Amino acid sequence: MNIHIISVFPGAFNGPLDESIIKRAQNKGLVRFYIHDLREFTTDKHHQVDDYPYGGGPGMVLKPEPIFSALEHVISQIPEQASKQLIFLTPQGHPYNQRKALQLCEVENLVFLCGHYKAVDERVRDFWPMEEISIGDYVLTGGELPALVIIDSVIRLIPGVISDLNSATTDSFYDDNLLDCPYYTRPEEYRGMKVPGVLLSGHHAEIDKWRKQKSVERTLSIRRDLISPERLINLKKDVDLGGLVNE
Ligand code: ADE
Repeated sequence: MNIHIISVFPGAFNGPLDESIIKRAQNKGLVRFYIHDLREFTTDKHHQVDDYPYGGGPGMVLKPEPIFSALEHVISQIPEQASKQLIFLTPQGHPYNQRKALQLCEVENLVFLCGHYKAVDERVRDFWPMEEISIGDYVLTGGELPALVIIDSVIRLIPGVISDLNSATTDSFYDDNLLDCPYYTRPEEYRGMKVPGVLLSGHHAEIDKWRKQKSVERTLSIRRDLISPERLINLKKDVDLGGLVNE
């Protein structure tokens, strides 16, 4: 996968892409990053990327010309037959989730346009076929951190990036939109707190049942919105919902 990033603050990507699993993915040749400084696509001597909004009001607006040039440059580097997806990070975008991460990990070229300041000139959004994504209902200073969040969540799903494939397939939200269950490691008892006996039993069917039960309990308690009423009826077949839901 090739990941292209267009940003006014390219330095924001220096550290995070050079650590842990993302670094390993690059070393294995599974991901390549191309980071573009938006200022390099300006043509004036001050390298101005933003300007005052027409109509007044606080904040600055990213100018259209450098963004158009940057996107044209990036797209010219992508072979015509390769799949690509342009992504614009904005709090006004569609909410990001694991389903979207699974879709994006199939794309050969991801192009992230990071907003900054108050807004981007609306003509950028009108002209370019970009998927607009928000990572949550709060406002950050720019799209750099959201781009990193998406990149991290997508890269770990690329086959070969995580050595233990099961680790990604048992994540929260992976295929059943439930929060993940609790996990324990050694010691068996710590400060009087014991690992649940079923996990030590070696009965895989019982362990799976316990994990599903705990996943559903956790989801109902913290993210009730993830389980539709129809789903709840189905879950009743496998899970004891006694006391967890008011019917
Ligand atoms: N830029 C600023 N805030 C953002 C958010 N919550 N999601 C995506 N991009 C953003």
